[in-house]
Amino acid sequence: MNGEELNSHDWQEALQLSKPDRVAWIHEKCLDQELLGHYRTKLLTSCTDLCGELGLEGGEPIKTWLQVENLLQIFKDWGLTRSSVVVTTGGGALSDAVGFAASIWKRGVRLIHIPTTPLSAVDAAWGGKTGINWGGAKNQLGTFAEPLAVHIDAQWMRTLSPRHFRAGLAEVAKHAFLNLEAFDDLCAHTLSWPPQNKEEFDLWSTLFVKSSNVKRQIVADDPEERGVRCILNLGHTLGHAVEAYTSGTSEPWLHGEAVALGLHFTLFEISHGVWTMGNCQELSHEQAKKLSAILHTQVPLPQNWSFTAEELWNYMAHDKKNVGNEIRDVAWRGVGHILWPVHWKKKSFEATWSAFVRSWEKFSQRATSP
Ligand code: GLY
Repeated sequence: MNGEELNSHDWQEALQLSKPDRVAWIHEKCLDQELLGHYRTKLLTSCTDLCGELGLEGGEPIKTWLQVENLLQIFKDWGLTRSSVVVTTGGGALSDAVGFAASIWKRGVRLIHIPTTPLSAVDAAWGGKTGINWGGAKNQLGTFAEPLAVHIDAQWMRTLSPRHFRAGLAEVAKHAFLNLEAFDDLCAHTLSWPPQNKEEFDLWSTLFVKSSNVKRQIVADDPEERGVRCILNLGHTLGHAVEAYTSGTSEPWLHGEAVALGLHFTLFEISHGVWTMGNCQELSHEQAKKLSAILHTQVPLPQNWSFTAEELWNYMAHDKKNVGNEIRDVAWRGVGHILWPVHWKKKSFEATWSAFVRSWEKFSQRATSP
């Protein structure tokens, strides 16, 4: 089965079935021009009224209130109504910002997402979260607006830098931590990037679709993140702290890189029995080795980092999952075995972080010594 067939809800069919009065297409500017042309043709054959097409810069700077106002003005100019559909093509920042604007225009215009990065294909495009940054903090304003369909095609990713492509694979690895089937799938794949032909692109698309299904199952049980959906934050408490801390430096980490470090930390915690709740560790030595190897080979991290526990703690204290003054985290006891919520004590985090850094340094020395 190829990626095209696996995309559970065909986006062109979804578009036709939604009987839109108007369809608007908002995509990133700097995508593969040939593929943009190909998708433009697909759009024109799936709807009678493509009322507007807009190319925007993608990336985090798009997630502003000002950009949302620009988009709302454009929706007005294009005459979008509650019967219209907005199709987005881009990374997670674009679908977050455009999704937010669409979800508040006339109390909600329907959406179809065509993600163009691994991160958006397995995570951002799914589950309906939209949002912009506000007041100096990420995703402070947002809505839940589940798209009619998400269409994954790895061919969009051929223009990504290797660093951005690799960083997105952290979310694929995270799903392998959360689900045994996804773990087996990832271990069974020996895909290389960039693919050499259409068949190899389809194999990547298939991997992304299967990985995203892990998220979809979890979101189906808790669409508005009142409970179990929080487990999708595995590796993210530390990851968000690293991302926020480095964002003001000359070497900001990508989201996926920061999450990968969070997942390395998760593996370290289990090997050191940090969380004592529950009565067993469900992880075999073999599985731990595989996950560590996947993270090391698929998501290379920036070199020579050093963050103190104190610096990270200050950022963790602002995590959205916290309640009151408690720092809540997702703990992991093996593939598919999650503890949520657990609470960090500052002393215990400091001790674990220091031990992790020492072990990481030893590992790095071993890896670089001849
Ligand atoms: N990215 C985590 C979530 O959508 O819940």
